[in-house]
This record gives sequence, C-alpha cells and structure tokens, in this order.
Amino acid sequence: AMDLRKVEQGWEYARTDSSVDGNRLRIGGQPFEHGVGTHADAIARIRLDDARTFVADVGVDDEVISTNGARRGSVRFSFLVDRKPVLTTPVMRGGESARHVAIDLRGAHELWLLVDGAGDGINYDHADWANAHIVQSLDAAPPILYRPAARPAIVLTPPAPATPRINGPAITAASVRHPFLFRIPATGDGPMRFSARQLPRGLTLDPRTGIITGSVARSGRYTVRVRAQNARGSDERNLTIAIGEGLALTPPMGWNSWNVWGCAVDAQKIRDAADQMISTGLVQHGWNYVNIDDCWMRKPGPDAREPHTGAILSNENFPDMRGLADYVHARGLKLGIYIGPNERTCQQYEASIGHERADLEQFSRWGIDYVKYDWCSARRDSVQIKYEKFGALIKTMPRDIVYSLCEYGMDSVWTWGAQAGGNLWRTTGDIVDTWGSMSGIGFNQERMAPHAGPGHWNDPDMLVVGMLGWGPTPRPTRLTPDEQYTHISLWSMLAAPLLIGADMTKLDAFTLNLLTNDEVIAINQDPLGNQATRVASINDVDVYTRRLVDGSWGVGLFNRSYDDQAIDSAWRTVIGKDSAQRVRDVWKQVDLAGLNTGLHAQVPTHGVLLLRVWPGT
Ligand code: GAL
Repeated sequence: AMDLRKVEQGWEYARTDSSVDGNRLRIGGQPFEHGVGTHADAIARIRLDDARTFVADVGVDDEVISTNGARRGSVRFSFLVDRKPVLTTPVMRGGESARHVAIDLRGAHELWLLVDGAGDGINYDHADWANAHIVQSLDAAPPILYRPAARPAIVLTPPAPATPRINGPAITAASVRHPFLFRIPATGDGPMRFSARQLPRGLTLDPRTGIITGSVARSGRYTVRVRAQNARGSDERNLTIAIGEGLALTPPMGWNSWNVWGCAVDAQKIRDAADQMISTGLVQHGWNYVNIDDCWMRKPGPDAREPHTGAILSNENFPDMRGLADYVHARGLKLGIYIGPNERTCQQYEASIGHERADLEQFSRWGIDYVKYDWCSARRDSVQIKYEKFGALIKTMPRDIVYSLCEYGMDSVWTWGAQAGGNLWRTTGDIVDTWGSMSGIGFNQERMAPHAGPGHWNDPDMLVVGMLGWGPTPRPTRLTPDEQYTHISLWSMLAAPLLIGADMTKLDAFTLNLLTNDEVIAINQDPLGNQATRVASINDVDVYTRRLVDGSWGVGLFNRSYDDQAIDSAWRTVIGKDSAQRVRDVWKQVDLAGLNTGLHAQVPTHGVLLLRVWPGT
C-alpha cells in the first residue's frame, strides 16, 4: 500500500511481493508470498502514527545463488527509530535462512529501514523484506514512505581568473622516438600565447594552441619551463617530460562513450566530444583522452576482418578511423579504443582472440593512443596470460598506447596488472549512477591502495555525473549534488583515472564546475601518485588522507550516513595534523581557520568536506 518509488536503492527499483529481479521472494530455500524486494544500498523512511511494532523476515534473495551453487551477495539490515539505531543484523549472505526481526515502535514518529552492502560493494545484494508489516492501532493513519528533497546543486568553486594559469599534470611521458603529443592546459582570457624554454630536441610548440608535438630520441627527464601569456599577464611553470619511463605517470583524464551512449555511439559523437573538450574549456584543466568504448567494430563473421592482414575492421558507424584520429589529434587530444581478449565483446561484436598483433597494428596505423581490453566472457581461465600477452605486444608497437585492463578485478588484478604492462586496471564490476553503486565501489578500494602509483593505477570505473544513460537518450545522473561532490572528491583522493561518462554537448554549469576545479584535479594528478586510505570512521564519516608532493595532505571527510554531521575541533586528532599551518577547503578554494583555532563545518548527508592541509614544522 505504500509508494515504493520513495525507496532509494542502489540498483533497479523496490518491488511488492517479488524480488528485485521480479521472482517470487525466496530466502534460504523458503518461499514468501508477501514482502518487498530491494537492492543495497537501500533506505526506506517511514512516518508513523500510533504504531506498535515492525516485523519482517529479512535476508538475501535466493536468486543470487549462481548455477554452480556459489553463494553471492552480502548485506546488513539496520533499523533506526527516530533516527537512532536500534538493531543491525550481522552480515547476511546469499543462501542463508531469513532472520526474523521485530522492532518496538511504541511512541515512535519515524522508522528507517536500511540495507548496506556490508563493505564489499553491492553486487548481488538483493535484499528481501519478507512479510514486512507495521502493526498499529486500529484508528491510526496509514504509515507514509517519504523521500526528502536533495539539497540544491550549488556551484562551490569560483571561476578561474582572467589572468593566465597553467593547470593539469606537472609531468607527462612518452617513449623514445614515439610520437609525442601534449597540450598545455591553461585558463585565462584568450587569445593566449604559449612558449617553452629547454624543450628537448625534436619537440616543437605551437604558440597559439600550446600543443607540443614531435618525438624525442633520447631517454631522460627533461624539465621544461612553460609559459602562458595573455593581455592581462602571464604564468610560468615547470613541466617534466619523462622519455622512456613508461606512460600515464599521472592518472589518465578524459571522456569515454559507454556511460552515456552505450552502443548508440558513432564517429560524429566522438568528434562532438573532442570539440566540446575544447569549447567547454575542459581541455584547459588537463582533460585530454577521447575514448570509444564497445560497439565500434563489426559483428563476428566473414567480413569482420581484412582478408589478408586479418586486422579488425570498424563498422558503418565509424567509416574512417584514421580520419577520426587525425581530427582528435589536431585538437591536441588523444583517441582511445576498446577491444577484448576473447571471441566477442560484451555487446557481441568481434574481439581479438587469435588476432592480437594484427589488431594492435591496425590501431597503430589508425593512430590510437589508448586501448581498453575488456574480458567479457563467462570463462575465467588464462586471464592473466591473455592480459600479459597483449601487454607484451603493445610494447612492440611503433606508438605509445596506454593499456587499460578491464576484467572487473578477477584474480586480484592489482597484484599483477603492472607486470602485465597495464597502466590501469578495473578493480570492480560496472558502476551505475546510484549512491549504493558509487559509494559501494569508492569506499571499498582499501586493499588495492598499495598497488597504485605513477604508470599503474587502480580503476574504480568511470564517472557518473552529467547526462548519461547507456543508450540513445541520455537523462540526468541520479546522484544528488552532494553525492556528485563525493564522487569526484573520492575519485580524486583515490588517484583514480578520471573518465567522464556524460553527454559532452549538454554539460551544465554544475557538472562543469565539478570537473574543472584545478585544486581538486591537482590532488588527483599529484605526481607522487599515492592512493588515499581511510584513517578513521566516526558516525559514518570516513576520513581519507593522502600525502601530496609538497608535503601537504589531501584530507577527505566523507559523510556516508543519512544525516548531516557536524565536524568540529575534535576532528583535529583524527586528521592527525594538530599543528597545521594552513587548512584549505579545495572545493571553495578558500583557506579556513587553522585546525588549532577550531574547524567547524557541517558535512551534509552523502556529502564531503575536501581539504588540503599543510602541517606545521
Ligand atoms: C563491460 C565494461 C564496461 C563497458 C561494457 C561495454 O564489461 O565493464 O565498462 O565497457 O562492457 O560492453
């Protein structure tokens, strides 16, 4: 009888008398006729009138048990009465019997029912509330499910100044004698003039665009003094060009077609994304990859490949790959592509098995700069061998190709991904634009942290801000504005690759602000490449820190609870930098009073306070 659309959850929608996948409710072999099927993370907020008790039989639905009997899914159910926790179940897993719960509601105004992913993400977390009902007095008003309105989208960051400012990574890389391409990111009024001192021999700079091209014959680290000048002033900065040290010395930043277009991608959308990278100003902040995901190739069959070379061919939506790469490169940007090690891609297109070398040669001819190698198979055998083989072949190509491993974290890829030649590797299954999915992934990257560093990154999947939807008609992200701040802050703290998954032609001011705060990006692109780790968690506020190149610390206070939380001077010791000289709110780009004199802030539910802290001496 309640309006189940008001239930917030991490995947699909809550259902009456059926599981989230639409099956009859069944927990630990026991079927239930009535109840509600949900998916972690979920919250149902219920207003009560003269209620007595809430009862239910809770557990993970049997539909998550795999065909070979593997028990998947793990959740915790918790119950808050008037916002106070009264019961949390132990972690419950797929296949276990239901647990009967009875909550005393006498005198209560509100009951909150929560399911969380028990700390390991939300995959297969199908949570059932069998026989759920509220016992109340006969003349009481019916209980009401409600969902509070999200706080409005507030742009926190001031616009970049009109005077020149050089942004983006302080280091970029290429291999000896391979084509070099780097566009100096700089904000400020146009027209801008760029110059550089001590450019290594073989490179030239276009003073109008700031695009550096050429190739370098000797390995080494070259410190280049780059300069940007406009009518109002100038800025100078050191840029390290590392030749022969590998690629992706800071996490890749760019755009990928999947989260927005799915298979409705074509060459025009790629050109649009490249154009928008320039016209929206994203390129001035360091964004530079434009990556095609699945569905650009042909379906398996006799015409999927070139008859003689065996090289893969694009389909009619991508009539001229070489031309497309030229178009992207002319703007100082780089082009990425997608393929897989097995018979087919996830969307049933031709993949590389048996043709790995021919395909990489094709990519080289086209001018590809980045390849995502996506497993897409039910089999789990020879995963490492296949990724190593492709990684070794990439190294023999005549151009630099960043290597992105996508096998969802199987076989603890973070322990061998770098050895396989990987520059980044997915640590999880696919992200979707819900709090449960994003936070379940983002706050579960602890054990991989030691494996991240310059040239090799943990990849918690692409960004879910802006207009997206995995198909022809993008719609706005379902994350609230505060959840979006958390998403970008957390990915920056985690030194995660940043790949925008939005319609680039429809970036609104709020989304653009999320993606163009240079102090946030500086944390993500910090040359030390330390992935932040959790140092504390108080009242569901997780504190993450990471050490940055100038001796300061990135500090993120993430409120994972469903209530706003006050942060005050008690947090000093948690942050661990008692004698801080300087504390800066990086979203607002303002210095706060030192921690000594007290830090007072309100962190909204699912929101974040992102700080940069300079310790005292
Ligand atoms: C998935 C991958 C996604 C996307 C999709 C395309 O396996 O994780 O990021 O690439 O395939 O079919």
